[in-house]
Amino acid sequence: MSAKQYILSILEENKGKSVSGAKLAKELSVSRNAIWKAVKNLQADGYAIEAVPNKGYCLSENNDILSGESIMPYLTVDSNALSITVQNLVTSTNTVLKEWAVHGAPEGTILIAEEQTQGRGRMGRPFYSPAKTGIYMSILLRPALGLDDSVLLTTSAAVAVSNAIEEVTGCQTKIKWVNDIYIKDKKVCGILTEGSVCLEGGGLEYCIVGIGINVSRPEGDFPGKLRHTADGIFSNSKDSIGLRSRLAATIINNFWAYYKNPFHDNILTEYRNRSFIIGKEIEILSGDTLQQATAVDIDTRARLVVRYQDGTQKILTSGDVSI
Ligand code: BTN
Repeated sequence: MSAKQYILSILEENKGKSVSGAKLAKELSVSRNAIWKAVKNLQADGYAIEAVPNKGYCLSENNDILSGESIMPYLTVDSNALSITVQNLVTSTNTVLKEWAVHGAPEGTILIAEEQTQGRGRMGRPFYSPAKTGIYMSILLRPALGLDDSVLLTTSAAVAVSNAIEEVTGCQTKIKWVNDIYIKDKKVCGILTEGSVCLEGGGLEYCIVGIGINVSRPEGDFPGKLRHTADGIFSNSKDSIGLRSRLAATIINNFWAYYKNPFHDNILTEYRNRSFIIGKEIEILSGDTLQQATAVDIDTRARLVVRYQDGTQKILTSGDVSI
């Protein structure tokens, strides 16, 4: 860990409080001048650090930059199992992490971005990913699961995000099969799980769970149709200051706990309980065809059981449903 990272991690742990420069210098065995230079560097990166006379350096409570150091204090997972990188701007965290996976990155590698230029959703749709108002995160897994069971990863991620949003913000969430999180009737999060299958054996070589959350409604609003279908957990970015790091960490904590126990009954029960389509009339878009049906249940493999108007029942493994 560099001096800059060390100082940032101490300031993040003591957010809103002053940390003595002399103490930092002693801990790092460097001069106070070296500490001052590192702090200047952090300030140049945008960190709101104040030098308080006779007290030291203080990272403002209003500092809202996502970093490994800002997330770390909230992690309850064994941090040795994870490697978290936060970048300012990427094309898509899923795309970049896929390249890392191909080059051998281990399970538990997590890439988070402040902004994505080519954020991707399911069915080839774009995922709007503006700076500072969201969390765009991809988690690399190398699970000992067959393709059929991999849907449980998406299910676990959906429950992990739902629970984390409720824990951190107090807002009630619902899950729209298969992987969208809603608050009231607006989408606040989408999950895109992608993987590569081993040609020999047919198991998963790796799997990437990509989670995109609109933490607050973007300044200037969402573009086009999204204005009516999407929302932020908060309507104003001022209300979410300091919460993105805690939310990102809580999602990781929850997801990791579920991942280590993927067949945990509670996850499917919670997933079902949070569903807001069971029992409702839905429209299923499959290719170019739109069909009306009733959502009957979510089965033990997180598949959607539907009944068409002619009375026939079908189990769906994927698709796009709307109410
Ligand atoms: C959807 O709504 O259909 C899924 C959206 C998934 C978006 C996330 S943001 C992080 C990761 N990187 C991407 O390009 N996509 C996922």
